[in-house]
Amino acid sequence: MPLKAVPFSQGSRFQLIPREFIRDPLGFVVRQVPRSGDLFQIRLLHRTILLTTNLEAIRHVLQVNHRNYRKGPLFRHLSLFLGQGLLTSEGDLWRRQRQMIQPAFYKNQLPGLFEIMSQTALGFCTDLRQRAGDETSLDITREMMQVTADIVLHALFSTTMEKDREEIYQYVMDVQDYSMYMTTHPWMAPVWRLNGRRRKIEARKAYFDEWIFRIIAERRQATKRPDDLLTMLVEAQDAESGAGMSDQQLRDEAITLFAAGHETSANALSWTLMLLTQHPDIMQKLVAEIATVLEGRPPAWEDLPRLSYTRQVMEESMRLFPPAHAFGRIAMADDAIMGYRIPKGSSVFFSVYGLHRNPDYWPDPERFDPNRFAPGKEKERPKLAYMPFGAGPRMCIGNHFALVEIQLLLVLLLQRFSFELVPGQQIVPQPLVTLKPRDGILMKVKNKKS
Ligand code: HEM
Repeated sequence: MPLKAVPFSQGSRFQLIPREFIRDPLGFVVRQVPRSGDLFQIRLLHRTILLTTNLEAIRHVLQVNHRNYRKGPLFRHLSLFLGQGLLTSEGDLWRRQRQMIQPAFYKNQLPGLFEIMSQTALGFCTDLRQRAGDETSLDITREMMQVTADIVLHALFSTTMEKDREEIYQYVMDVQDYSMYMTTHPWMAPVWRLNGRRRKIEARKAYFDEWIFRIIAERRQATKRPDDLLTMLVEAQDAESGAGMSDQQLRDEAITLFAAGHETSANALSWTLMLLTQHPDIMQKLVAEIATVLEGRPPAWEDLPRLSYTRQVMEESMRLFPPAHAFGRIAMADDAIMGYRIPKGSSVFFSVYGLHRNPDYWPDPERFDPNRFAPGKEKERPKLAYMPFGAGPRMCIGNHFALVEIQLLLVLLLQRFSFELVPGQQIVPQPLVTLKPRDGILMKVKNKKS
C-alpha cells in the first residue's frame, strides 16, 4: 500500500505557525489529539514538525528503529557548551560512554548516593528553618533549584563549591536559555553575537572549565579518592579497550550530569508541592503516612519502599507536570510509521505532557489522583503511556537517582514545614527545556513544631 502523508493538525494547513500553538504549546497538543488524531504535523515557518502522543509512533522511534533517529537542533546548541556528554553525543561515542557511566547509576550505588543526598538535604532544611515564618513568602521553585543543584554537585564532586556555585548555576541556566532561544529563533544568532550575550556565556564557560579541569587533575592524582560520581567517572574503563576517559570527556560528562540532573528534579518537587497545597485531603494522607512510617525521624534508605503513598504522589505529579514535557528526534533516512511517510530529515516530537493527559489511557486526565499509581494499577494501561524519563536505549540514566532524591526531599520537607500558596498569584507552566512555573510559585513556609 502506498504511504500516506502525515495530516496537518485541524485548520493549520495554511498557517505559517498555528496561532493556537504559539499562544499555548502545551494545551495545543491536548486539544488537538481528539480533533486531529495522535500523529499530526504543523508548520513552524520554513519547516514542519510532526507531533505525536501515539504509542506505536513513540515505540517505533525510541525503541524499534531508534538507530535511524538522532537528537535535534536543541542538542546541537547545547553541545556548544556541554560538549559531547551523554545528553548530546550520538552513535558509537554515546554507546561507549553510556556503557562506561551506567554502573555509577546502578541500584547498588544508590545507598551511597542516598547518604550524600541526606546530608545535603538536611543542611538545606536547617537553613530553611531560619528563613521560614508567618511573614515571609518564598519562591519554592528557586528553593528547590538550590537544593537539587547542591545535591547533584555534592554527588558529583563531594563539594557544593560555596564560592563558585552561583557562577556555575548561572552558566547552566544561560546555556539552556541560549539553546532554547536559538532553536526557536535561529535567525537571532548574529544578534546575540553583536549584543554580547553569547560572549557572556563564553566567559562563564571559560570560568567553569578552569575550575573543572583543576578538580579533574587533583582527582587523578589523589591517593585516596572520595566516593562520588567523579571518582566513578575517572575510574570507568571501556569494556573492550580498557581505556579511561580523557580530561575533556570527563569535563563534558560532569557538566552534562549537573545540567541534566537538577532542574528536572527541582521542577518535579515544585509542582508536587503546588498540587499538594491545592489538595489538602491528599496532603493530609501523605503527612499521615510519613508520620506513621517514620515516627518523626529522617528517612533511612530502607524506609523508602515503605513510603508507598509518597511515591504514588510523586508519580502522579510527574504525570500532570512532566519536567521533560516534550522531546524529539530527527529521521536520518526515509522511514514509515503506521502507514505514514516519514521523509529523511523529519522532526518527530513526543509531547509527554499530551500523552500523560490522553483520555484513552488516563480517565478524567486533569484530576490529580495518586491512586492511579496504587500497586497493580500500571497493568491497566500500556507501559509507554507513562514516560516522564523517556524510553528506549536513551532513557534517562538518572531516573532512580531522581526518584530517590525527590522522595527524600518531599519527606524531609513535609516533616518539618507546612506550605500554603500565596493567594492571588497566577501559576503558569512554561515549556522551555524543562516544564517550569513561569513566574515561580510563592508559598508561605511555616516551621512545624518539633
Ligand atoms: C525528575 C527528574 C528527571 C527527569 C524527568 C528526567 C527526564 C529525562 C528524559 C525524558 C530523558 C531522555 C531524553 C531523550 O530521550 O531525548 C533524560 C535523559 C538523561 N537524563 Fe534525565 N531526568 C531527570 C533527572 C536526571 C538526573 C537526576 C540525572 C543525573 C544525575 C539525569 C541525567 C540524564 C542524562 C545524562 C540523560 C541522557 C541519557 C542518554 O542519552 O544516554 N536526569 N532525562
